[in-house]
Amino acid sequence: METHLFSPLQLRDLTLKNRLVMSPMQQYSSPDGLVGPWHLVHLGSRAVGGVGLVITEATAVSPEGRNTPFDTGLWNEAQVAAWRPIVEFVQAQGAKVAVQLWHAGGKGSHAHPAAGFHYLSPAEGGWVTKSASAVSLDQQHTPEALTGPEIQALIGDFAAGAQRAVAAGFDAIELHAGHGYLFHQFYSALANQRTDAYGGVFENRIRLLLETARAIRAVIPAGMPLLVRLSAVDFSSEEHAWTLTDSVRLAAVLQQHGVDVVTASAGGLSAPPKDSVGPLYQVPYAEKIKADTGILTGAVGLITTPEQANALITTGQADLVVLARELLRDPYFPLRAAQVLHLPGTAPVQYQRAFPASRH
Ligand SMILES: Cc1cc2nc3c(=O)[nH]c(=O)nc-3n(C[C@H](O)[C@H](O)[C@H](O)COP(=O)(O)O)c2cc1C
Repeated sequence: METHLFSPLQLRDLTLKNRLVMSPMQQYSSPDGLVGPWHLVHLGSRAVGGVGLVITEATAVSPEGRNTPFDTGLWNEAQVAAWRPIVEFVQAQGAKVAVQLWHAGGKGSHAHPAAGFHYLSPAEGGWVTKSASAVSLDQQHTPEALTGPEIQALIGDFAAGAQRAVAAGFDAIELHAGHGYLFHQFYSALANQRTDAYGGVFENRIRLLLETARAIRAVIPAGMPLLVRLSAVDFSSEEHAWTLTDSVRLAAVLQQHGVDVVTASAGGLSAPPKDSVGPLYQVPYAEKIKADTGILTGAVGLITTPEQANALITTGQADLVVLARELLRDPYFPLRAAQVLHLPGTAPVQYQRAFPASRH
């Protein structure tokens, strides 16, 4: 039977009902790291709309791991309790839900985007940011380099965040290792100038991500999928920039460390070359990583039509179609896609009069 956009996908013990994934999107709506009614509606409506997997916005494992004081978190029990009803609602719609765990590293401590997203000093309510090295990532301030013991504590924060995610009822965990945030600050030599076991050669620069993946695997159920979002390329012509070849090497090692899916995004430390951003522009990264390693991949970036999404799956370029802005424009994209493509959709019983061709 042909594999298509609405074919299920098995990830360890988890069955996704289709290949459509809600991409993580920061909402900057969580004072004290707490999710609330906004997130119930924001995530819940995409579950009602029929995606197979909802991935939450980047969720910090410590207060210093946030990008802004308004990011969500999983560093305390109040946050676990706040996530629980949202997780349950999404699951009740037949979708699965993953939390994207993250640390912003040297990109932390910024004002709310509506207030200009500028660096916030500790005196202005921000915090001291830490990264692989004292390399400025925002041209406004320079982070401090993490010490060895601080790196070990960070890995512990991720493991504790993963345990809280399990307690909150999440089905899966995604590590955000792209977009110039902490893990990317380590694996890309553009930001990593360390001379210890976490800097220098490739094996050292990927060490933090691998040790974190291993620490998470050790505390979550064996049947729970672990996903990683990478920046597959650095968009930089500098000689020591991160390349697709590096991503293929990294994906192969991640697979050996119990990672089930790699989503291939890009950039975050430097801007993409002019005119390089267009429909499906990041798909070749997912395709290459999948072809060369056999790991399951998610394709993301300017995928906006049902036909594009379906073709990615039927041709085997990727295993999951990860949608961000198109789902903001249309939370019911999956239901619409099922109609347009004449494939079985997943309209909830309450909405079936609007989607008569679909079946639950
Ligand atoms: C409002 C907004 C917030 C985002 N926040 C995150 C995030 O928290 N984590 C992440 O990995 N990517 C984040 N992204 C990137 C998206 O997940 C996605 O990779 C990107 O928008 C390209 O996909 P698209 O063309 O379908 O929008 C964000 C994008 C948007 C538009």
